[in-house]
Amino acid sequence: MKKFSVLAFVLVFVLILSACGAGSGSSAGSSAAPKKKTLRIVDDATYAPFEYLDKGKITGFDVDIMKALAKEAGYKYQLVNVGWDPVFAELKNKTADMSISAITINSDREKTYDFSYPYFLSTNKILVPKNSSIKSGADLKGKRIAVQTATTGQTAVEKIVGKNNPSIKRFKTINLAIMELTSGGADAVVADNTVIEQYAKNNPGKNLKVITDKKAFDPEFYGLMYPKGSKLRADFNKAINKIYDNGTYTKIYKKWFKVTPNVKDLKAQQ
Ligand code: ARG
Repeated sequence: MKKFSVLAFVLVFVLILSACGAGSGSSAGSSAAPKKKTLRIVDDATYAPFEYLDKGKITGFDVDIMKALAKEAGYKYQLVNVGWDPVFAELKNKTADMSISAITINSDREKTYDFSYPYFLSTNKILVPKNSSIKSGADLKGKRIAVQTATTGQTAVEKIVGKNNPSIKRFKTINLAIMELTSGGADAVVADNTVIEQYAKNNPGKNLKVITDKKAFDPEFYGLMYPKGSKLRADFNKAINKIYDNGTYTKIYKKWFKVTPNVKDLKAQQ
């Protein structure tokens, strides 16, 4: 009898202690980490291998990078495929918090938007039929060139053939621009090297090749894009350096591109 009551007493005591522990633990947790809102992150998921739809799901290098960054920075988010022009409109109107969409950081865009540290090195290249006589950027003069509207590919072509040259054919997505080329309506497409190189490789039947011209096309760096003055920039810049340093970036890069990235060069751009 005595033994039993001592045991019961100890049990009750332990129960009360653990209840207190759980209570104070959870309230301390929530006050230490104030609830962050779910971010609305927008993209144009027509740009494989960076962001594209696979069975209706947004997939790609950028998608994996975003996931890793949000985890590091401690944010929940929803990635929404809105299209290229709406990406810019949403950030301008501040209806979205951020975009990851293979977006090149440049001084023109920096007037209206803020950017993260660079996370990817790219350059524009030229996609042409295998039997094309086009061998350089300069050869684009007098040719019909298809681009995705409002991309750096368009700007680069404008520099070569003139801003309002009617030979520049602009399309809503890069896939439509490439279709114009393969159906004979254009002589070349200018876009980010990774995108057109992958297309040429994955569609050998289309008989396409990619032309590199380092003089005509500058190196470009992709960044996360924010509305001007966004408070998120600092948190995500920290996260970018974390995934550079802990190997996560390299792992994702190798998964998509099968080669090792030059993290040192990317960091040198900060
Ligand atoms: N890098 C180019 C630019 O910033 C093209 C990006 C297009 N991205 C996309 N998801 N469609 O202008």
